[in-house]
Amino acid sequence: MGQGVRFHLNGREVSPDVDGSRQLLWVLRGELGLTGTKYGCGEGVCGACTVLVDGEAVHACTTPVASVAGKRVVTIEGFADGERLQPVQEAFVEEGALQCGYCTPGMILAAHALLEKYPRATRQQIVDGLDGNLCRCGAHQRILAAIGRVASGKGGAA
Ligand code: FES
Ligand code: FES
Repeated sequence: MGQGVRFHLNGREVSPDVDGSRQLLWVLRGELGLTGTKYGCGEGVCGACTVLVDGEAVHACTTPVASVAGKRVVTIEGFADGERLQPVQEAFVEEGALQCGYCTPGMILAAHALLEKYPRATRQQIVDGLDGNLCRCGAHQRILAAIGRVASGKGGAA
């Protein structure tokens, strides 16, 4: 049978009874019922499954749950500050930076991690930083605009 893996998820401690080799994506979506983290490729190349682990953007589809033991995991469900959206979420709304929304949770969390590192990221830094996140709807320009809006301090700022 599986062994419990204890970690902090969206501000509370969880210890799902799963085998440590199971990928975090499936533990989140299956055992923990958080389906905001999406499955795209399953191979670490599309970014749909991006979550934050100790503040870093991580592909949950290629992350064994054992590797997040004792760490802080944030999914899109726990990203907003209660009812208050985070700046990058507000900017996505303001720029209409989505179409079907499938890539959006991963995009937002990847963008947040990038902006934590480079609060005034240039367009090139944003393009490079989001290189691992694909949008099949082709909303890239609006996504770049939303992130650029935060980086330039024009909107979405807390
Ligand atoms: S589903 Fe994880 S990177 Fe594509
Ligand atoms: S909005 Fe549909 S995949 Fe990006």
